[in-house]
Amino acid sequence: MFSYVFMKILETRPRSYDRNINRASLGKIRAIKRQIANQATPGSKVLEIGCGTGELAGMLVAAGCNVEGFDLSPSMVGAARERIKSEGLGDSFTVHNAGVDSMDIFADRSYDTVVSTLVFSEMSDDERRYALANAYRVLSPGGKIIIADEVSPRSGVLRFLHSMTRAPALLGTYLVTSATTRPLDDIAGELTAAGFVVGKYARSQGDSFAVVVAVKPAGDKNDEPA
Ligand SMILES: C[S@@+](CC[C@H](N)C(=O)[O-])C[C@H]1O[C@@H](n2cnc3c(N)ncnc32)[C@H](O)[C@@H]1O
Repeated sequence: MFSYVFMKILETRPRSYDRNINRASLGKIRAIKRQIANQATPGSKVLEIGCGTGELAGMLVAAGCNVEGFDLSPSMVGAARERIKSEGLGDSFTVHNAGVDSMDIFADRSYDTVVSTLVFSEMSDDERRYALANAYRVLSPGGKIIIADEVSPRSGVLRFLHSMTRAPALLGTYLVTSATTRPLDDIAGELTAAGFVVGKYARSQGDSFAVVVAVKPAGDKNDEPA
């Protein structure tokens, strides 16, 4: 679904971002967030990479989780802080204005789950590698990472159609925001390279969207405290 290309434009208006991305994705992105929250374990500690306005964090808190999120954009973080007040999320959701490159502020083995929706497609190759290495570090053994994002379709024909339908929107978005997004080519391979074991990998939306769940193995000797 090429409408995700517009997300860089929609992000410039954090107050209407959730409504607009939900409309643009025909309700799919909110449904995916609900699905992630419905499968969360009450009482678990969650770190959200690129939490935006905190829509998913709010759902996770309602499911009984304790969420810490961070986002590069001060205005998205401002909207998330407004949500904490308006939805009475209190201490159950804390948010930091920080980028992936500041993930060393989060302690080793201190989260049960790391989540991220529509963020990895905005990162450079180096940022994704750094984010995955740090997600691995901050997760407790047996903890999991869930990434939901745009991906490149597997068949050559679908990939071609996807990039053709994306191209005009991509150009328009770049002209307005000087920023772009890239569907993920091999997120399963990147997760594996970071040490995770990939479990569920559910594709949808014409093979151009994926929800990937991967686990940090419980018995990683290199990850035990010194
Ligand atoms: C499309 S929005 C998605 C927001 C939220 N995850 C959601 O699904 O509602 C992408 C978010 O990722 C954030 N972001 C992009 N690159 C980032 C980085 N390197 N570190 C932290 N946040 C980042 C942006 O500021 C933006 O809020």
